[in-house]
Amino acid sequence: MKRQAALPLIAGIFALSGCTAALAPSDTSTSPTPSSESADALQIEKTPLTLRPPEEAPGLWRTENHTDINNAPITRAGVRAPEQLHAPVEAWATERVDSFSTQVTSLSDEKDRQGAQLSMDPGICGASGTVLCYAIDAQTTFPASAPQHSESRYHAWITDSRDGFVMESTDLLSTEGRTKIHEQVPGDPTAIFPNEDGSLTLAVNGEGYRVSSTHEHAIDPMLSPDGKRLRHEFMAGTPLERIPHPKIDCQANPCVALTFDDGPGPYTAQLLDTLKEKDSKATFFLIGSHVSSYPDQVKREAEEGHAVGNHTWDHADLSKQSAATITNEVAATDQAIMDAGAPQPILVRPPYGATSPTVHSILASRGQAEIHWSIDTLDWKNLDVAKDIEMATATAQPGSIILMHDIHPETVAAVPEIIDDLHLAGYDLVTVPELLGGPVSNYLGFSVFSQQ
Ligand code: NI
Repeated sequence: MKRQAALPLIAGIFALSGCTAALAPSDTSTSPTPSSESADALQIEKTPLTLRPPEEAPGLWRTENHTDINNAPITRAGVRAPEQLHAPVEAWATERVDSFSTQVTSLSDEKDRQGAQLSMDPGICGASGTVLCYAIDAQTTFPASAPQHSESRYHAWITDSRDGFVMESTDLLSTEGRTKIHEQVPGDPTAIFPNEDGSLTLAVNGEGYRVSSTHEHAIDPMLSPDGKRLRHEFMAGTPLERIPHPKIDCQANPCVALTFDDGPGPYTAQLLDTLKEKDSKATFFLIGSHVSSYPDQVKREAEEGHAVGNHTWDHADLSKQSAATITNEVAATDQAIMDAGAPQPILVRPPYGATSPTVHSILASRGQAEIHWSIDTLDWKNLDVAKDIEMATATAQPGSIILMHDIHPETVAAVPEIIDDLHLAGYDLVTVPELLGGPVSNYLGFSVFSQQ
Protein backbone atom coordinates (compact mmCIF):
# COMPACT_ATOMS: atom_id res chain seq x y z
CA MET A 1 0.00 0.00 0.00
CA LYS A 2 2.72 2.46 1.01
CA ARG A 3 4.79 1.77 -2.10
CA GLN A 4 1.85 2.36 -4.39
CA ALA A 5 1.12 5.62 -2.64
CA ALA A 6 4.70 6.77 -3.28
CA LEU A 7 4.41 6.46 -7.06
CA PRO A 8 2.18 9.50 -7.74
CA LEU A 9 4.52 11.48 -5.47
CA ILE A 10 7.54 10.60 -7.62
CA ALA A 11 5.62 11.41 -10.79
CA GLY A 12 4.63 14.71 -9.18
CA ILE A 13 8.21 15.69 -8.43
CA PHE A 14 9.37 14.96 -11.92
CA ALA A 15 6.42 16.74 -13.48
CA LEU A 16 7.44 19.71 -11.35
CA SER A 17 11.08 19.59 -12.42
CA GLY A 18 9.87 19.36 -16.02
CA CYS A 19 8.02 22.63 -15.46
CA THR A 20 11.14 24.26 -14.05
CA ALA A 21 13.14 23.19 -17.08
CA ALA A 22 10.44 24.49 -19.43
CA LEU A 23 10.37 27.84 -17.66
CA ALA A 24 14.12 28.35 -17.67
CA PRO A 25 14.54 29.42 -21.35
CA SER A 26 11.77 32.04 -21.12
CA ASP A 27 13.41 33.39 -17.95
CA THR A 28 16.69 33.69 -19.86
CA SER A 29 15.06 35.49 -22.78
CA THR A 30 13.59 38.14 -20.49
CA SER A 31 16.81 38.49 -18.51
CA PRO A 32 18.65 41.74 -19.30
CA THR A 33 22.02 40.05 -18.65
CA PRO A 34 23.83 38.64 -21.71
CA SER A 35 25.67 35.39 -21.12
CA SER A 36 29.17 36.88 -21.48
CA GLU A 37 28.46 39.31 -18.65
CA SER A 38 26.94 36.46 -16.62
CA ALA A 39 30.15 34.52 -16.96
CA ASP A 40 32.09 37.53 -15.70
CA ALA A 41 29.90 37.55 -12.62
CA LEU A 42 31.25 34.15 -11.50
CA GLN A 43 32.93 34.00 -8.13
CA ILE A 44 35.28 31.23 -7.10
CA GLU A 45 36.44 31.14 -3.50
CA LYS A 46 37.83 28.55 -1.10
CA THR A 47 35.35 26.67 1.02
CA PRO A 48 35.54 23.78 3.51
CA LEU A 49 34.67 20.37 2.05
CA THR A 50 32.06 18.78 4.24
CA LEU A 51 30.02 15.66 3.62
CA ARG A 52 26.85 14.79 5.47
CA PRO A 53 26.80 11.31 7.08
CA PRO A 54 25.28 8.60 4.86
CA GLU A 55 22.75 7.82 7.60
CA GLU A 56 21.01 11.09 6.72
CA ALA A 57 19.73 9.45 3.55
CA PRO A 58 16.94 7.07 4.53
CA GLY A 59 17.87 3.61 3.29
CA LEU A 60 21.60 4.27 3.17
CA TRP A 61 24.02 3.15 5.86
CA ARG A 62 27.67 2.95 6.59
CA THR A 63 29.64 -0.27 6.69
CA GLU A 64 33.26 -0.60 7.70
CA ASN A 65 35.99 -2.93 6.62
CA HIS A 66 39.54 -3.07 7.98
CA THR A 67 42.45 -4.65 6.12
CA ASP A 68 46.11 -3.85 5.72
CA ILE A 69 48.93 -3.87 3.22
CA ASN A 70 52.38 -4.54 4.68
CA ASN A 71 50.95 -3.63 8.12
CA ALA A 72 49.69 -0.29 6.78
CA PRO A 73 46.04 -0.13 7.85
CA ILE A 74 43.21 0.43 5.36
CA THR A 75 39.83 1.50 6.73
CA ARG A 76 37.13 1.32 4.11
CA ALA A 77 33.64 2.49 4.75
CA GLY A 78 31.36 0.81 2.25
CA VAL A 79 27.98 1.39 0.73
CA ARG A 80 24.99 -0.91 1.03
CA ALA A 81 22.75 1.21 -1.20
CA PRO A 82 21.85 2.41 -3.73
CA GLU A 83 22.66 -0.67 -5.71
CA GLN A 84 23.54 1.12 -8.95
CA LEU A 85 26.51 2.72 -7.19
CA HIS A 86 28.12 -0.53 -6.10
CA ALA A 87 30.08 -1.18 -9.30
CA PRO A 88 31.50 2.33 -9.92
CA VAL A 89 32.29 2.90 -6.23
CA GLU A 90 33.94 -0.51 -5.95
CA ALA A 91 36.05 0.10 -9.06
CA TRP A 92 37.19 3.50 -7.79
CA ALA A 93 37.93 2.20 -4.27
CA THR A 94 39.92 -0.73 -5.66
CA GLU A 95 42.01 1.71 -7.67
CA ARG A 96 42.71 3.77 -4.52
CA VAL A 97 43.76 0.63 -2.61
CA ASP A 98 46.01 -0.48 -5.50
CA SER A 99 47.64 2.91 -5.70
CA PHE A 100 48.16 2.99 -1.91
CA SER A 101 49.61 -0.50 -2.06
CA THR A 102 52.13 0.59 -4.70
CA GLN A 103 53.11 3.59 -2.58
CA VAL A 104 53.51 1.53 0.60
CA THR A 105 55.47 -1.20 -1.14
CA SER A 106 57.91 1.36 -2.54
CA LEU A 107 58.80 2.61 0.95
CA SER A 108 62.14 1.17 2.00
CA ASP A 109 61.83 2.12 5.68
CA GLU A 110 59.77 -0.32 7.75
CA LYS A 111 58.71 2.49 10.14
CA ASP A 112 57.41 4.56 7.21
CA ARG A 113 55.42 1.59 5.98
CA GLN A 114 53.84 1.00 9.38
CA GLY A 115 52.99 4.68 9.76
CA ALA A 116 51.16 4.79 6.46
CA GLN A 117 47.39 4.51 6.32
CA LEU A 118 44.47 4.82 3.95
CA SER A 119 40.96 5.65 5.04
CA MET A 120 37.95 5.94 2.79
CA ASP A 121 34.83 7.53 4.17
CA PRO A 122 31.56 7.99 2.31
CA GLY A 123 29.12 10.83 2.73
CA ILE A 124 26.31 12.70 1.09
CA CYS A 125 27.18 15.78 -0.93
CA GLY A 126 23.64 16.67 -1.96
CA ALA A 127 20.18 15.20 -2.11
CA SER A 128 16.81 16.04 -3.58
CA GLY A 129 13.83 13.82 -4.33
CA THR A 130 15.24 10.63 -5.82
CA VAL A 131 18.59 12.25 -6.75
CA LEU A 132 21.63 11.76 -4.54
CA CYS A 133 25.18 13.10 -4.67
CA TYR A 134 27.34 10.44 -3.04
CA ALA A 135 30.99 11.15 -2.27
CA ILE A 136 33.98 9.37 -0.82
CA ASP A 137 36.79 11.16 0.93
CA ALA A 138 39.91 9.00 0.56
CA GLN A 139 42.83 10.06 2.74
CA THR A 140 46.29 8.61 2.54
CA THR A 141 48.58 9.49 5.42
CA PHE A 142 52.34 9.00 5.44
CA PRO A 143 54.80 9.84 8.23
CA ALA A 144 56.72 13.08 7.72
CA SER A 145 59.91 11.06 7.17
CA ALA A 146 58.42 9.25 4.14
CA PRO A 147 59.04 10.54 0.62
CA GLN A 148 55.31 10.12 -0.15
CA HIS A 149 52.95 12.98 0.65
CA SER A 150 49.73 12.61 2.57
CA GLU A 151 46.78 13.50 0.42
CA SER A 152 43.04 13.79 0.54
CA ARG A 153 41.03 12.99 -2.54
CA TYR A 154 37.31 13.40 -2.99
CA HIS A 155 35.32 11.57 -5.60
CA ALA A 156 31.57 11.92 -6.14
CA TRP A 157 28.82 10.35 -8.17
CA ILE A 158 25.32 11.57 -8.87
CA THR A 159 22.62 8.95 -8.97
CA ASP A 160 18.87 8.86 -9.44
CA SER A 161 17.26 5.86 -7.75
CA ARG A 162 14.09 6.38 -9.80
CA ASP A 163 15.72 4.95 -12.93
CA GLY A 164 19.18 3.81 -11.78
CA PHE A 165 20.95 6.75 -13.51
CA VAL A 166 24.60 7.18 -12.44
CA MET A 167 27.18 9.73 -13.54
CA GLU A 168 30.60 10.89 -12.42
CA SER A 169 30.09 14.26 -10.74
CA THR A 170 32.87 15.80 -12.84
CA ASP A 171 30.72 15.14 -15.93
CA LEU A 172 28.42 17.85 -14.61
CA LEU A 173 30.84 20.36 -16.17
CA SER A 174 30.68 21.53 -19.80
CA THR A 175 33.89 22.05 -21.79
CA GLU A 176 33.47 25.78 -21.20
CA GLY A 177 33.06 25.21 -17.47
CA ARG A 178 36.14 23.01 -17.32
CA THR A 179 38.26 25.65 -19.09
CA LYS A 180 36.95 28.46 -16.90
CA ILE A 181 37.68 26.53 -13.72
CA HIS A 182 41.11 25.52 -14.94
CA GLU A 183 42.00 29.21 -15.35
CA GLN A 184 41.20 30.02 -11.73
CA VAL A 185 41.82 26.88 -9.69
CA PRO A 186 45.14 25.00 -9.32
CA GLY A 187 44.25 21.58 -10.76
CA ASP A 188 41.37 19.55 -12.13
CA PRO A 189 38.34 18.98 -9.95
CA THR A 190 37.98 15.37 -8.74
CA ALA A 191 34.40 15.94 -7.57
CA ILE A 192 31.60 18.48 -7.89
CA PHE A 193 28.83 18.95 -5.36
CA PRO A 194 25.78 20.89 -6.57
CA ASN A 195 24.36 22.99 -3.74
CA GLU A 196 20.77 23.89 -2.95
CA ASP A 197 21.49 27.60 -3.41
CA GLY A 198 22.58 26.99 -7.02
CA SER A 199 26.31 27.28 -6.33
CA LEU A 200 28.76 24.44 -7.00
CA THR A 201 31.43 23.08 -4.69
CA LEU A 202 34.54 21.72 -6.39
CA ALA A 203 37.06 19.39 -4.79
CA VAL A 204 40.54 20.07 -6.15
CA ASN A 205 43.56 18.36 -4.56
CA GLY A 206 41.48 17.75 -1.44
CA GLU A 207 40.57 21.45 -1.12
CA GLY A 208 37.13 22.94 -1.62
CA TYR A 209 36.21 25.82 -3.94
CA ARG A 210 32.79 27.38 -4.17
CA VAL A 211 31.59 28.61 -7.56
CA SER A 212 28.74 31.07 -7.24
CA SER A 213 27.21 34.04 -8.99
CA THR A 214 24.80 36.81 -8.21
CA HIS A 215 23.30 36.18 -11.66
CA GLU A 216 20.89 33.30 -11.58
CA HIS A 217 21.83 32.02 -15.04
CA ALA A 218 25.59 32.57 -14.94
CA ILE A 219 26.37 29.03 -13.77
CA ASP A 220 24.36 27.12 -16.40
CA PRO A 221 26.88 27.63 -19.26
CA MET A 222 29.50 25.97 -17.01
CA LEU A 223 27.43 22.80 -17.02
CA SER A 224 26.73 19.91 -19.37
CA PRO A 225 23.07 19.22 -20.27
CA ASP A 226 22.88 16.64 -17.44
CA GLY A 227 24.65 19.13 -15.18
CA LYS A 228 22.03 21.83 -15.82
CA ARG A 229 19.18 19.43 -15.25
CA LEU A 230 20.67 18.07 -12.02
CA ARG A 231 21.62 21.49 -10.66
CA HIS A 232 17.98 22.54 -10.94
CA GLU A 233 16.96 19.25 -9.36
CA PHE A 234 19.18 19.99 -6.32
CA MET A 235 17.96 23.60 -6.17
CA ALA A 236 14.38 22.32 -5.85
CA GLY A 237 15.46 20.99 -2.41
CA THR A 238 12.84 18.25 -2.35
CA PRO A 239 13.27 16.00 0.70
CA LEU A 240 15.17 12.86 -0.25
CA GLU A 241 12.95 9.85 -0.78
CA ARG A 242 13.88 6.55 0.80
CA ILE A 243 16.54 4.84 -1.27
CA PRO A 244 15.25 1.46 -2.39
CA HIS A 245 16.94 -1.41 -0.66
CA PRO A 246 19.28 -3.23 -3.03
CA LYS A 247 17.99 -6.50 -4.38
CA ILE A 248 18.72 -9.10 -1.75
CA ASP A 249 21.42 -11.47 -2.84
CA CYS A 250 22.71 -13.41 0.15
CA GLN A 251 25.10 -15.31 -2.13
CA ALA A 252 26.87 -12.06 -3.06
CA ASN A 253 26.49 -10.09 0.21
CA PRO A 254 26.69 -11.41 3.76
CA CYS A 255 23.25 -11.74 5.33
CA VAL A 256 21.92 -12.67 8.76
CA ALA A 257 18.35 -13.27 9.91
CA LEU A 258 17.04 -11.81 13.16
CA THR A 259 14.18 -13.93 14.49
CA PHE A 260 11.74 -13.04 17.28
CA ASP A 261 9.76 -15.72 19.08
CA ASP A 262 6.83 -15.91 21.50
CA GLY A 263 5.07 -12.72 20.34
CA PRO A 264 3.13 -10.81 19.43
CA GLY A 265 3.30 -8.74 22.60
CA PRO A 266 3.19 -5.23 24.03
CA TYR A 267 6.67 -4.33 22.61
CA THR A 268 6.13 -5.65 19.09
CA ALA A 269 4.97 -2.28 17.73
CA GLN A 270 8.14 -0.60 19.02
CA LEU A 271 10.25 -3.30 17.41
CA LEU A 272 8.44 -2.85 14.08
CA ASP A 273 9.14 0.91 14.26
CA THR A 274 12.84 0.20 14.77
CA LEU A 275 13.01 -2.29 11.90
CA LYS A 276 11.30 0.20 9.60
CA GLU A 277 13.59 3.05 10.59
CA LYS A 278 16.67 0.86 10.09
CA ASP A 279 15.46 -0.61 6.78
CA SER A 280 15.79 -4.15 8.09
CA LYS A 281 13.64 -7.26 7.82
CA ALA A 282 13.06 -9.92 10.46
CA THR A 283 11.16 -13.15 11.00
CA PHE A 284 8.53 -13.53 13.70
CA PHE A 285 7.52 -16.90 15.15
CA LEU A 286 4.15 -16.33 16.77
CA ILE A 287 2.29 -18.10 19.54
CA GLY A 288 -1.21 -18.73 18.16
CA SER A 289 -2.99 -17.94 21.43
CA HIS A 290 -1.29 -14.49 21.59
CA VAL A 291 -2.37 -13.43 18.11
CA SER A 292 -5.93 -12.34 18.92
CA SER A 293 -4.58 -9.85 21.53
CA TYR A 294 -2.41 -8.03 18.94
CA PRO A 295 -3.90 -8.73 15.50
CA ASP A 296 -2.84 -5.30 14.15
CA GLN A 297 0.82 -6.02 14.91
CA VAL A 298 0.63 -9.36 13.11
CA LYS A 299 -0.90 -7.68 10.05
CA ARG A 300 1.78 -5.01 10.23
CA GLU A 301 4.56 -7.60 10.38
CA ALA A 302 3.36 -9.09 7.09
CA GLU A 303 2.62 -5.73 5.43
CA GLU A 304 6.04 -4.34 6.25
CA GLY A 305 7.85 -7.20 4.55
CA HIS A 306 8.74 -9.39 7.52
CA ALA A 307 8.22 -13.15 7.52
CA VAL A 308 5.53 -14.39 9.87
CA GLY A 309 6.07 -17.94 11.13
CA ASN A 310 4.31 -20.37 13.45
CA HIS A 311 5.51 -21.15 17.02
CA THR A 312 2.53 -23.40 17.98
CA TRP A 313 -0.69 -22.46 19.77
CA ASP A 314 0.56 -22.57 23.38
CA HIS A 315 4.32 -23.14 23.20
CA ALA A 316 3.93 -26.91 23.31
CA ASP A 317 6.91 -29.29 23.28
CA LEU A 318 5.95 -30.94 19.99
CA SER A 319 8.41 -33.80 20.45
CA LYS A 320 6.17 -35.13 23.22
CA GLN A 321 2.82 -34.77 21.44
CA SER A 322 0.73 -37.14 19.37
CA ALA A 323 0.46 -36.59 15.64
CA ALA A 324 -3.09 -35.26 16.07
CA THR A 325 -2.01 -32.73 18.70
CA ILE A 326 0.96 -31.57 16.63
CA THR A 327 -1.34 -30.98 13.68
CA ASN A 328 -3.84 -29.07 15.85
CA GLU A 329 -1.14 -26.92 17.47
CA VAL A 330 0.17 -25.88 14.07
CA ALA A 331 -3.13 -25.64 12.19
CA ALA A 332 -4.88 -23.50 14.84
CA THR A 333 -1.92 -21.09 14.86
CA ASP A 334 -1.88 -20.86 11.06
CA GLN A 335 -5.59 -20.00 11.17
CA ALA A 336 -5.14 -17.29 13.84
CA ILE A 337 -2.31 -15.71 11.82
CA MET A 338 -4.40 -15.73 8.64
CA ASP A 339 -7.39 -14.31 10.53
CA ALA A 340 -5.16 -11.39 11.58
CA GLY A 341 -4.42 -10.67 7.92
CA ALA A 342 -1.02 -12.30 7.35
CA PRO A 343 -0.38 -15.09 4.83
CA GLN A 344 -0.36 -18.72 5.90
CA PRO A 345 3.07 -19.35 7.45
CA ILE A 346 5.54 -21.50 5.54
CA LEU A 347 7.97 -21.52 8.47
CA VAL A 348 7.46 -23.26 11.81
CA ARG A 349 9.79 -23.06 14.79
CA PRO A 350 9.15 -25.84 17.31
CA PRO A 351 9.31 -24.45 20.87
CA TYR A 352 12.56 -25.34 22.70
CA GLY A 353 13.84 -26.57 19.32
CA ALA A 354 12.24 -29.87 20.34
CA THR A 355 11.44 -31.93 17.29
CA SER A 356 10.97 -35.51 16.14
CA PRO A 357 10.58 -37.46 12.90
CA THR A 358 6.78 -37.13 13.37
CA VAL A 359 7.07 -33.33 13.59
CA HIS A 360 9.28 -33.33 10.46
CA SER A 361 6.87 -35.36 8.41
CA ILE A 362 3.75 -33.49 9.52
CA LEU A 363 5.31 -30.12 8.67
CA ALA A 364 6.65 -31.42 5.36
CA SER A 365 3.21 -32.71 4.41
CA ARG A 366 1.75 -29.27 5.24
CA GLY A 367 4.36 -27.61 3.00
CA GLN A 368 6.05 -25.98 5.99
CA ALA A 369 9.75 -25.83 6.83
CA GLU A 370 11.14 -26.36 10.33
CA ILE A 371 13.41 -23.46 11.26
CA HIS A 372 15.75 -23.49 14.24
CA TRP A 373 18.63 -21.07 14.95
CA SER A 374 22.42 -20.91 15.01
CA ILE A 375 22.88 -18.13 17.60
CA ASP A 376 20.94 -18.26 20.86
CA THR A 377 21.12 -14.84 22.53
CA LEU A 378 19.57 -16.20 25.78
CA ASP A 379 17.82 -12.84 25.96
CA TRP A 380 14.95 -14.34 27.99
CA LYS A 381 17.44 -15.26 30.72
CA ASN A 382 19.83 -12.29 30.62
CA LEU A 383 17.23 -9.50 30.35
CA ASP A 384 20.12 -7.10 29.79
CA VAL A 385 20.45 -4.73 26.83
CA ALA A 386 24.27 -4.73 26.67
CA LYS A 387 24.44 -8.52 26.99
CA ASP A 388 21.78 -8.95 24.28
CA ILE A 389 23.80 -6.76 21.89
CA GLU A 390 26.96 -8.73 22.59
CA MET A 391 25.27 -12.13 22.23
CA ALA A 392 23.53 -11.21 18.97
CA THR A 393 26.57 -9.73 17.27
CA ALA A 394 29.77 -11.27 18.68
CA THR A 395 29.59 -14.56 16.78
CA ALA A 396 27.45 -13.53 13.81
CA GLN A 397 28.62 -14.85 10.47
CA PRO A 398 27.11 -14.99 6.99
CA GLY A 399 23.99 -17.17 7.13
CA SER A 400 23.43 -16.91 10.92
CA ILE A 401 19.89 -17.24 12.24
CA ILE A 402 19.72 -15.27 15.51
CA LEU A 403 17.16 -16.18 18.17
CA MET A 404 15.53 -13.46 20.28
CA HIS A 405 12.14 -12.77 21.91
CA ASP A 406 10.13 -9.60 21.32
CA ILE A 407 8.15 -10.09 24.53
CA HIS A 408 11.06 -8.67 26.57
CA PRO A 409 11.55 -4.88 26.66
CA GLU A 410 15.35 -5.32 27.06
CA THR A 411 15.49 -7.27 23.80
CA VAL A 412 13.48 -4.68 21.90
CA ALA A 413 15.65 -1.91 23.38
CA ALA A 414 18.80 -3.73 22.22
CA VAL A 415 17.67 -4.10 18.60
CA PRO A 416 18.67 -0.61 17.31
CA GLU A 417 22.30 -1.17 18.26
CA ILE A 418 22.26 -4.79 17.15
CA ILE A 419 21.16 -3.62 13.69
CA ASP A 420 23.70 -0.77 13.59
CA ASP A 421 26.53 -3.12 14.61
CA LEU A 422 25.55 -5.76 12.04
CA HIS A 423 25.20 -3.12 9.31
CA LEU A 424 28.61 -1.74 10.19
CA ALA A 425 30.04 -5.23 9.86
CA GLY A 426 28.56 -5.36 6.35
CA TYR A 427 25.52 -7.56 6.92
CA ASP A 428 22.14 -7.23 5.28
CA LEU A 429 19.35 -8.13 7.71
CA VAL A 430 16.88 -10.32 5.91
CA THR A 431 13.97 -12.68 6.53
CA VAL A 432 14.62 -16.40 6.86
CA PRO A 433 13.18 -17.14 3.37
CA GLU A 434 15.50 -14.46 1.92
CA LEU A 435 18.43 -15.97 3.81
CA LEU A 436 17.65 -19.47 2.53
CA GLY A 437 17.32 -18.14 -1.00
CA GLY A 438 15.66 -20.99 -2.82
CA PRO A 439 12.09 -22.26 -2.61
CA VAL A 440 10.97 -23.51 0.79
CA SER A 441 10.37 -26.94 -0.75
CA ASN A 442 14.16 -27.37 -0.60
CA TYR A 443 13.93 -27.39 3.19
CA LEU A 444 10.82 -29.44 3.81
CA GLY A 445 11.45 -32.29 6.18
CA PHE A 446 14.77 -30.81 7.36
CA SER A 447 15.70 -28.92 10.49
CA VAL A 448 17.24 -25.66 9.30
CA PHE A 449 19.67 -24.06 11.72
CA SER A 450 21.42 -21.60 9.44
CA GLN A 451 22.34 -21.09 5.81
CA GLN A 452 25.93 -22.23 6.11
NI1 NI B 1 9.60 -19.89 22.28
